[in-house]
Amino acid sequence: TKVDLSIGDLEKGDFEHYMLKEIFEQPKTIQDTYRGRIKADQKEIVLGGLLDVFPKIVNANRIIIIGCGTSWHAALVAEYLIEEYARIPVEVEYASEFRYRKPIINPGDVVMAISQSGETADTLAALKMAKAQGALILGICNVVGSSIARETDAGVYTHAGTEIGVASTKAFTAQVTVLTLFAFKLAKERGKISQELYEQLIGEMLAIPDKVQTILLSHPNIKKVAEKYKDAINALYLGRGYLFPVALEGALKLKEISYMHAEGYAAGEMKHGPIALVDDNLPVVVVSAKDSYYEKVVSNIQEVKARKGNVIAVVTEDDNGLRNMANDLFEVPESHPAVAALLAVVPLQLFAYYIAVMRGCNVDQPRNLAKSVTVE
Ligand code: G6P
Repeated sequence: TKVDLSIGDLEKGDFEHYMLKEIFEQPKTIQDTYRGRIKADQKEIVLGGLLDVFPKIVNANRIIIIGCGTSWHAALVAEYLIEEYARIPVEVEYASEFRYRKPIINPGDVVMAISQSGETADTLAALKMAKAQGALILGICNVVGSSIARETDAGVYTHAGTEIGVASTKAFTAQVTVLTLFAFKLAKERGKISQELYEQLIGEMLAIPDKVQTILLSHPNIKKVAEKYKDAINALYLGRGYLFPVALEGALKLKEISYMHAEGYAAGEMKHGPIALVDDNLPVVVVSAKDSYYEKVVSNIQEVKARKGNVIAVVTEDDNGLRNMANDLFEVPESHPAVAALLAVVPLQLFAYYIAVMRGCNVDQPRNLAKSVTVE
């Protein structure tokens, strides 16, 4: 389906493109998504849409999360969060693989679909298959009343508002917001985290909108860096832990809208292939934070520098290592690692946006892509 940009209910206002508008809406859309779900003086998470089925989720043997494109990246963040905090085994799969490969689904499995549109054909079909095999099926959708939202037993809506740009931005951060609340709540209900940590994590979530706003204010710097790399042929994005899916998402944004070939990789896998590509023409975007992976990321970047790669680093304000090794920096505020993906992705959205504009691309409607893929 093609997006009708003449739809009258959205104000593009001062923004040149819907995508830029949607990137800048994120402090609000993240807040809209957790508002009403963080309660009782910010000491409790309540996901109304899951209340009836939550006891079943708490006792699940396994959670399988399916999605496509950007939604699949949000699912990867959720895998790391749920396994680390709630200690339930999680599998993440492309809906298009899951539905055809005859997966094993047992009673006690929960299958959750992530979908902005709620209409992606592969995701919908995969869910129906899981339902027929007896799994509890859940949905995280943005579009109210969409096919996936109607098919599922229960779910949570993201409150990102209408997303027009084909490349997903605010829907992604809204999905990650819901999934983060879900993981924290599940961890608490399963007795895997203390009330103290639970409240600390809730506080970290509440601090995100202001921090995103800080990153948005740095847009002139991101634009300057984009100017430097706009003519590159290839780009490599690296990250570890919670920032590995962000590396994938950053690369996807760039290739979708600027048509520059970009690959996202787990930084630790670089030595098994992509390092062969590194030379003085290759921009390498490294997504980092001062988390438990930091030292490992630093040594990956030393490898890139030794081969004359150009390093663009997403760093936190307290960074003092990568900062000195990188050619260019995107600074983000410090946060707890469990919410860091919500911050690190924002400069990468803007970076892709500016490069696409500078390359003369149709940012809101990139060639060959559709907002909602209802074909198989
Ligand atoms: C298309 C869109 C992507 C989106 C993907 C999944 O490829 O261009 O932006 O991430 O579909 O869509 P969904 O609506 O299921 O999240």
